[in-house]
Formats: sequence, C-alpha cells, structure tokens
Amino acid sequence: MKKFHQDELFFLPGENQGNASPASAEKSPWEQAEALRAQIRHHDHLYYVEATPEISDQEYDRLYHALLELEAAHPEVVTPDSPTRRMHGGTLEGFQTVEHTLPMLSLENTYNAADLERFHESVLKGLQGESPVYVVEPKIDGISIAVRYVDGVLVQAVTRGNGKQGDDVTENVRTIPSVPLRLDTPRPPAFFEARGECYLPREGFARLNQRRQEEGLEPFANARNATAGSIKLLNSREVATRPLDILFYTQGRIEGMEITSQRQLLETFRALGLKVQKWCRIARDFQEIQAAIQELDQIRRSMPYDTDGAVIKVDSFRQRELLGMTAKAPCWAKAYKYEPERAATRLKAITIQVGRTGVLSPVAELEPVPLSGSTISRATLHNEDEIARKDIRVGDMVLVEKAGEVIPAVVRVLPEKRPQGAVPYDLPGSLGGRCPSCGGPIHRDPQFAAWRCDNLQCPAQNVRRVEYFAHRNALDIECLGDVVAESLCEADLIREPLDLFSLTQEQLASLNLGTPDEPRLFGAKNAAKVLAALQRARQKDLGHWLQAMGIPEVGAATAYQLGRIHRDLPQVADSPYLKALLELLDLQGDRQRKNDAEAAARREALLPALQRAGLVKFSSSKGGYVTTSVGPKTAQSVLEFFQGEVGRKWLSRLEELGIHPQGGDEGAEATGEKPLKEMVFVLTGTLASMGRTQAAAKIRALGGAVSDSVSRKTTYLVAGENTGATKTNRARELGVQVLDEAGLLRLLGEGPQGEEAP
Ligand code: IVH
Repeated sequence: MKKFHQDELFFLPGENQGNASPASAEKSPWEQAEALRAQIRHHDHLYYVEATPEISDQEYDRLYHALLELEAAHPEVVTPDSPTRRMHGGTLEGFQTVEHTLPMLSLENTYNAADLERFHESVLKGLQGESPVYVVEPKIDGISIAVRYVDGVLVQAVTRGNGKQGDDVTENVRTIPSVPLRLDTPRPPAFFEARGECYLPREGFARLNQRRQEEGLEPFANARNATAGSIKLLNSREVATRPLDILFYTQGRIEGMEITSQRQLLETFRALGLKVQKWCRIARDFQEIQAAIQELDQIRRSMPYDTDGAVIKVDSFRQRELLGMTAKAPCWAKAYKYEPERAATRLKAITIQVGRTGVLSPVAELEPVPLSGSTISRATLHNEDEIARKDIRVGDMVLVEKAGEVIPAVVRVLPEKRPQGAVPYDLPGSLGGRCPSCGGPIHRDPQFAAWRCDNLQCPAQNVRRVEYFAHRNALDIECLGDVVAESLCEADLIREPLDLFSLTQEQLASLNLGTPDEPRLFGAKNAAKVLAALQRARQKDLGHWLQAMGIPEVGAATAYQLGRIHRDLPQVADSPYLKALLELLDLQGDRQRKNDAEAAARREALLPALQRAGLVKFSSSKGGYVTTSVGPKTAQSVLEFFQGEVGRKWLSRLEELGIHPQGGDEGAEATGEKPLKEMVFVLTGTLASMGRTQAAAKIRALGGAVSDSVSRKTTYLVAGENTGATKTNRARELGVQVLDEAGLLRLLGEGPQGEEAP
C-alpha cells in the first residue's frame, strides 16, 4: 500500500497547516476530489484491511464530509469508484443471474490423518517425482463470492450459486468497506477476478443478533446463515448495516497479469489492497502438513471469524495443472475438517416434524446449551432406527454436536446419567399411530427407515412445500420463511405454493405471526416485499422453477441442467432427452442385445441429441456412454412426476396464472448450417470471452463435438490462457492443430470481420 508523503496530503480549507502551502487554493475541484479520495482510500485500507488506523474517527469523518460536499458542489467530479459511492441507495428488483468466468468449485473434505496422507500420496504420484510445496490456510465458514475488477475498478460481485452461475450481488458487496472499489495499483490488470469468503465476524454477528432481538425479530441460527441472508438482501442500505467482510484466497479469470502460485496470488491480493488471511503456513511433507493443521486448531478459536477446518493446497499452478481435477473438485487441494465441538445437555422431549414429502422426522427438544457460537435447543435424531441404535430415551443426558452448516445432531447418550424409569422410545406409539399434523394414518415401508404420512393435503407438508418454493435457491421470495409459511397455511390462506399468487396486500399485511393473545402482525412493508418478490418470481427461469416445484430427486444441479437444455415446462414434462436417456441406458444394459445391429443403430440415433445436451459422455474405462449430472433414477422421477396428478396440476395452474418459465433450449438442434460438422475439439486453459462450457455449447450448436482428451481424432486443440503443457505437448506429438482463442472465435463466426478462417 502506498504510504502518503506529507506534502502529498491534501489539507482542508481553513485548517492550521503550519508552514505547508495551502495546495487546495491552486487545485481544481477534480484534483481536490482525487486527493481526498486517495486519502480516504488509504485510511479505509488501514482501518478495514490492516486494522491499524492512523487517524481518529473525527479526522476521518472530516475528510469524508469534505469529499461529500465537494462532490455535491461539483457533480462532474464524481467517479463510480469514489468512496462516497459505496451505497446504491435504492432497492433492487432482484438479482441477475451471471455466468462464472471459471466454474466455482468446492473441495473434498477429509476428517482424519489417514485420509489426508492418502491425499499427499496421490499428489506425489500425480507429480511423478516432483516435490510439492503446500500452502495451508484456515477454512473460513462463510459463503464464497467472486469479485471482478476491470482495469482496476470493481464492476461485479457474484455469489457461488450452482458453481456455474451465481447471483449478481454487486451493490451489496460494494457496501463492504474492506473491499476496494479500485485496486491499489497504477497499472491494473485488464481483468482480475478475486474469489474469497464473505463472513460476519463473531463480534459483528453477536451485535446483529442482539439488535434483531431488540427489534422483535428472529435471531439468525449462526454467522454463516446470517451472512448468506445479508448478502441476498435487496436493499443495499440494509446490507451496509451488517458488518460483513471478505477474505480472498483464490482467483477466477485474470487477464494482463501472470500469477503462477498460491503464494504469489496471496501476495498480489495484499499488494492490490484485497484482504487476505493473516495465518498461513507452508508445508513440504506430510509431517509439516500435520503440524500446520494442529497449530491452527490451537489458535483458530481466538480468530475473529468462524473457521471449521484447514485448506491444504498445492502452491504451484503448473503442478495443479498436472494434477487436474475430478468432476466436482480439484485434485490439488483438500479441506481438512476439525472435529466438531460437542456439548452435553438434557433431552426434554422428542417431537415429530412432518417434511415436504410426508416423512416424519424425530426432533430432540433440548435443555438450551451453548455450542460453537450459538445456543442449541433442538437437534435432529434422523429416524426411528437411529434412535433405537443409539438407545436414546426421553430424559437422557445426551451429547450434541454441530459440524459446520449441518444441523446439530445427537451423537450419543451418557448412560451413566440416565434417569430411573426412562423407557425406550416408540415413534408410532408416541403418536398414537396418527400424523401429528393432519391426524391421518402413518406407515413405514420396511425397506426405508422413515415413517410417513401419505396425505398430500397434510397441512404440515403444505407448509414445507411453500417454504421450499420460497427458498433463496428456488424462487427467492423475500420475507417468506418457515414462520410466515406456517401462519399462511394455518390461516388457510394458502394450501400449496401457487396459492401465494392469489394473496392480496391486505391478507398478507394483517397476517398474525404471534398468538391471538399476543398478536404480531406481518405488516404492510413486509407484505409489499413478498408481493414484489412474487412478481419477480414470475420471470425466473426454468431451472429455478424446476427446483421450486420440489420434484423428487431433483436438486439444484439437476434443476439447472434440465433448465438449460429444455425450452419450457411442457417440454420437460414430456422430455425427449430424458426418454432418450432412459432408452439408451436400457439398450446398454441389455446384454442380450449387445451385438444386435438394430439395437446398435438405435443407440447411434439416440446419442447425438444426448451428447449435445451434455447428458451423456463417453467413458473409455466403462466402455460405453455414461450419464453426467442426470442419472436414470432422476430421469424416471421427473417423467413420473409430470405424468402424475401433482405434476399435471402444476402445469395447468401455471398456465392459468400466465407463468411460462423459459429454459436455455441448449439441447435444441440449430436449424442452420453445421460448419463444424465432424470436427472434434478439445478445450484447455481459460478463454477470455467465454467460459469453457459456453464455448463447448457453441461448438456443439454448429455441429462440432467436444472431447476431454487429445487423441488422433481431435481436429483442434483450443488453448486459452494459463494452459498446462500436457495437452499441448500431446497435440504436437499427434500433429493436432492448436488454435488460440481468436482462431476459435473465427471458426464460430464471431471473429473480426474479413479475417480468413485458419
Ligand atoms: S480454496 C477450488 N481456501 O470452502 C476451490 N476455500 O469446500 C478453491 N473456503 O467453496 C477454494 N476458506 O467457499 C479455499 N482458505 C480457503 C477457504 C475456502 C473457506 C470455502 C470455499 C470453498 C469451500 C470448499
């Protein structure tokens, strides 16, 4: 960080400046504003990033107000990255969905030394004789965020979302004072995406919860939930009151700057004014890794933010390329999770919660006990068999534990503390054989551990479905959590999610969230927020709607994939892709027809569409085509859902409401020319103008095929930035032509006009 030289400092008019010349007298408003901005940035950095302020709050306020006044008097000198422009001020309609520059991956977790040693061994094996250097960092328990700078100016901040696309939360991230609006360098890189963890420091979280309780609001369960809720608020003024912070630890796309290792990356972040963790260790062998994670465990509770493990990363980016990645996570890094904290408390009662699909889940009602930064009064007991296996009885002293984002669980009982007369727990007996919500019959299929209520109209199931529908990851209906969903169902204002669209402002505003004796009204302001969010939900894409519908087996990733390849809901309901997928798997699994020519021809006919849609890929180890993110069970479940009564009702009601969620239609066969027909592409490295998935989709749309590895069949290897040597060497060996990004763009018809294709 640049240190200010005394004569570079800007003095406020009328101040006692000793012998210094009053520079402001000769400076233009623009120069004055720039000088003030530089000073404010400098002090922001010292205060929020380094935690070593040099001036008092009053002195800082004077600088800030001088800038505010100057900018008010001369609006032409305002810049978007001025420290006075952190806050957007207004309310957003919703968040735009944004593609990630590179997928935002997660890490594989390990919980013990043996697993970690296996990781180290696999790294040694993968590096074939080279020695790794590892960087060990604390694993921050927050939510990941990507922050993009173009020519050094913050332009966009995106949540992780499903790893491929996230929400544009720029306005909210701008309010985080430690995040620079401009990188601290005179020669910024053209594009720089820093990724890190957004979190609420422990102290800030405690203050926030105290404030909420004073305002009669439900406190957040933990700092991570509070962070996730805060970053998705639609009012950046409200976000600015939440003491959020971000620590950076990895990168997205970077252009105009070469970074070759984690150590260099962290150093670069620091130099650019981006906050990084103070604690970090280098390890060269397994003993040193172990020593680092043990040291971290000793000190991590005294750190100002929650951590739940250590992240062990190979330092060299070249070595990372050699190690590669699996479908989900890189092979060059591992998260080591610490033993979760445990506490002993009394099990007062076991209650039953009815889930969205009618599953009856036993819940432990506990004597409240502090654990990992929050107070625990309920914990999951999983199911009847688990209770029997652990012999958990009402009245027992039990050990509870909380592992990261997982809901607290009862680990075991303390048998020596069992009260006399405690009897084994009998789930159906305790309910008199009836659903605690609707009073209907319950049953248990012997092959499943769960008891269930089969009444589709069961009020408790309705509540859960509404809650699921409104969840942040589904249709993101602001202010509609469990309490509101429950009150709406209890008041019989709604029975199913789509009834939400018939609610009026008055009905919502007068909803009583309290009791008849102690009413607590939902209020006009919250009612307006719900209605606005419902209005936005009408425009949400097919992927979000598919998730919100709660189709069995369909989670976020599947919903996204189905939304990407289909045009609309009626097409999903009768999906040619899912039907083709099931038929293909059937043909492949049918040993008797393995050598049957008719079956082979049918397989060949089914494959192109499925490959285009990214639903299957060839696996040489399996000797056939394998499914990607949508397996046969899911495909079956989706088709059955829409053939059944529930799915058909969804379709007809959406039609009545005039809601027609649109998908990406990426599976569709383009009707135009197929200039890339019979060409096979392999993509490697980072492309500046698009993600690799997007590039692959464009190639397929023009008739080309995309493969993972270079072989004799490869027509072009497309090599972007930061490309490892393995694929390019292989291409050279086989005489495969290597294309740069410009070459690919020309082939796609997107290159500069008038240039010849290679
Ligand atoms: S590196 C390729 N470093 O943990 C993934 N992640 O399970 C690169 N996290 O999604 C991530 N602290 O949200 C990395 N020091 C750290 C981290 C960290 C927390 C989170 C991050 C990531 C998840 C992985």
